[in-house]
Amino acid sequence: MEAINASIGFDRRLYAQDIAGSRAHAAMLAATGILTDSDAEAIREGLLTVLSEIEGGRFDFRTDLEDIHMNVESRLRDLIGPAAGRLHTARSRNDQVAVDFRLWVRDQCDAAISGITELIRALLAQAEAGADWVMPGFTHLQTAQPVTWGHHMMAYVEMLGRDMGRFQDARARMNECPLGAAALAGTSFPIDRHMTAAALGFDRPTANSLDSVSDRDFALEYLSAASICAMHLSRFAEELVIWSSAQFRFVRLPDRWTTGSSIMPQKKNPDAAELIRAKIGRILGATVALFTVMKGLALTYSKDMQEDKEQVFDAADSLMLALAAMSGMVAHMTANRPVLAAAAASGFSTATDLADWLVRTLGLPFRDAHHVTGTLVKCAEDRGCDLPDLTLAEMQAVHAGITADVFSVLGVENSVRSRQSYGGTAPDQVRAQVARWQARLA
Ligand code: ARG
Repeated sequence: MEAINASIGFDRRLYAQDIAGSRAHAAMLAATGILTDSDAEAIREGLLTVLSEIEGGRFDFRTDLEDIHMNVESRLRDLIGPAAGRLHTARSRNDQVAVDFRLWVRDQCDAAISGITELIRALLAQAEAGADWVMPGFTHLQTAQPVTWGHHMMAYVEMLGRDMGRFQDARARMNECPLGAAALAGTSFPIDRHMTAAALGFDRPTANSLDSVSDRDFALEYLSAASICAMHLSRFAEELVIWSSAQFRFVRLPDRWTTGSSIMPQKKNPDAAELIRAKIGRILGATVALFTVMKGLALTYSKDMQEDKEQVFDAADSLMLALAAMSGMVAHMTANRPVLAAAAASGFSTATDLADWLVRTLGLPFRDAHHVTGTLVKCAEDRGCDLPDLTLAEMQAVHAGITADVFSVLGVENSVRSRQSYGGTAPDQVRAQVARWQARLA
């Protein structure tokens, strides 16, 4: 029974939140006259001692005391005697764990937001430096159109910006205090829930005591936001794995974020990127696990809900590690500009520019322009050259109206410069987006 029932093995991570919640509760009990000032003072002092014992590694966590709440309270009794028993007046472990866990998850939202901010800064630095470095843009992992390095980096900034917004939204929604819901029905003591809510930095107390002790939406929202963020990181990680391969050579990853092989001396493995790519498995796994624990639970608290913590702890650790590793890699990776530029010009990447030119200059309907361009690509393919290497005569053989002016749009530099539509890849547009983000973060 002890083995299946105890949560102290993992919920000890809530010690700081548990003690903060108890201090707020004790202060409120004194202010409302439920507790004497001297008992409240003894409790306050005792809790601070417990806190310093835990932080100093001098605390004996006992499995027979089940969880962090009972461990702290039991030690408090050793320290201050019977007054410790008054701390649990007008409270239950049900609202206690709800407030502890909410405080912990709220901190994790803040941590995720700063981890994301750091990564965005690293991406902005890359984007600013490489606002006009050309590279191939892909669809289906096939060369599509030339884009800029900065534009590609800024795509991730947008994704991470939405991730940040999700953590901010979740934080705002979870910022209500369940303390004082007691076991499930509220309490007959004249408590002041607004006071404890304010003391713990919540916007207000929760409004329904049943919901307060049975709700784990805040953890599910955190996990959902974490899953989406981890999915974004895994996509970028995958690109870094591909880009750093000998076949691509688009980037050089910093040595300290790669490993060598014990047998093949030439190897530089992108282990950090691979592990970041994998973290989504744990994080989304935790999300599915907690949804599955919560589904079908009748109100209110059931012990099933003790299974919430390990999932969230593991997901949070994984997310923070992935964000930190990604920031380190992005801050110190080097784009291989000549390789990027050569790749940008290959694969008939300016075929769309050619088709657009036929529309704009010769007034062809886009579908016809698409057809003419297809024929010209075929021509170049047969000759084993790229589009700008075709002669004017060869082009005119396909469509008589083509003039030498066409060559101006076949170069990749001109191609990216021409994509001035809002949010497009033109260096000016990229710089404008970098500036907008820098202002937003400032
Ligand atoms: N360790 C429990 C948990 O994590 C604390 C709440 C226990 N409440 C109860 N009525 N047994 O959920």
